[in-house]
Amino acid sequence: GVAPNGCPVSADAAGFDAFSGPYQLDPAEALRWSREREPVFFSPRLGYWVVTRYEDVKAVFRNAAAFSPAIALEKVTPTSEAANAILRRYDYGMNRTLVNEDEPAHMERRRALLHSFLPAELAHHEPMVRRLTREYVDRFVGRGEVDLVDEMLWEIPLTVALHFLGVPEEDMDTLRAYSIAHTVNTWGRPSPEEQLKVAEAVGKFWQYAGRVLEKMRANPAGHGWMEYAIRRQKEMPEVITDSYLHSMMMAGIVAAHETTANATANALLILLRDREAWDAICADPSLIPNAAEECLRLSGSIVAWRRLALEDVQVGGVAIPKGSKLLIVMTSANHDGRHFENPDELDIYRDNTTEHLSFGYGSHQCMGKNLARMEMRIFLEELTRRLPHMELVPDQVLDYLPNTSFRGPHHLRVRWDPSLNPERRDP
Ligand code: HEM
Repeated sequence: GVAPNGCPVSADAAGFDAFSGPYQLDPAEALRWSREREPVFFSPRLGYWVVTRYEDVKAVFRNAAAFSPAIALEKVTPTSEAANAILRRYDYGMNRTLVNEDEPAHMERRRALLHSFLPAELAHHEPMVRRLTREYVDRFVGRGEVDLVDEMLWEIPLTVALHFLGVPEEDMDTLRAYSIAHTVNTWGRPSPEEQLKVAEAVGKFWQYAGRVLEKMRANPAGHGWMEYAIRRQKEMPEVITDSYLHSMMMAGIVAAHETTANATANALLILLRDREAWDAICADPSLIPNAAEECLRLSGSIVAWRRLALEDVQVGGVAIPKGSKLLIVMTSANHDGRHFENPDELDIYRDNTTEHLSFGYGSHQCMGKNLARMEMRIFLEELTRRLPHMELVPDQVLDYLPNTSFRGPHHLRVRWDPSLNPERRDP
């Protein structure tokens, strides 16, 4: 085969499959060959250029004028006419949010909506995160075994996300199902039958977001980010449009909770597999923030993101024609030995770990990163304090949703001897 720039497609590039096999098992490892030999390649199966080295991924993020984020929420797999008809029936109209908006509209909107993310505003959420985490741990601390994803890591970030947005706490299980459908719809490769089910759920999610928005409009007085956005809309209706509010309501629920839940599950997996590191953070909780950051580097919850080339460009010396789509693989960049020494090793003391690209980089860099960091820190503080002796249930099969971008195990089972709980010895 030949790539769109006229160069031949290598066997490795032709074999790259984003939806099954090695990339789903361990995306950074699956692209080691690329980092070493062919850091920018065209994947015929995906129809995307794949970028895997740190400097190249960062350069693409940095240059939003040449590399547009407009396709960030586009379906990576085009869906059938039947599935599209279902979405139309629900008036599905996911459009620009922040993450997929071009300049100059993006920066104007981002500035207008920054307030809720300022440190003083985020501080308001901290006591709730602490209280929720203690309550959830109370429920299982005496039991000796738990699935942390099912019984803690999914629901707390969802509750915090709803609180942050100002959305009343609704049926958590329904929202969990909706979020997964949105991920599959956007970043997955559903079969024709799955596409129909996913379209139903996504359509319902869209309608749900619309209803919540309408309810909020009646009295947007609260502290939530969406309420703030509704108030700002009155001052700048061209910047904060109706379409934006509706799209952001839906995308925001997913952006704020699934990412954080997955990132924490990934972090616990890494830390519990390295007893020395786990014991170190149990003994000295001040190590937790850097340890969490190092886990985000090694195993972030968004492993790859997308950009559209608006002009003929060069990435890492490879000519990429205007109109090309790029999959920029942050987790591969984070494992690039050109930037991180011993890149595959967990080093909770690493001094440049915050340079990882798991939150993106540049003008679109994740606005919620400090909220996510705060949640991860509190989860780790509470778990290390109350269950320092916990361990992974051996031989559990970890199960991931096949997709290009969102990554975290569906379940994470840990166990411990409750008679050794520190609070029993030292209440
Ligand atoms: C954007 C990752 C948590 C809100 C992004 C982007 C990534 C990302 C990769 C795109 C960055 C780019 O294009 O350069 C993550 C991860 C999280 C997380 C890994 C958790 C560990 C959150 C939370 C919120 C949030 C908790 C909200 C409370 C946003 C928003 C944007 C964004 C609003 C769009 C920013 C813009 O385009 O200007 N995030 N995120 N994220 N994220 Fe997050």
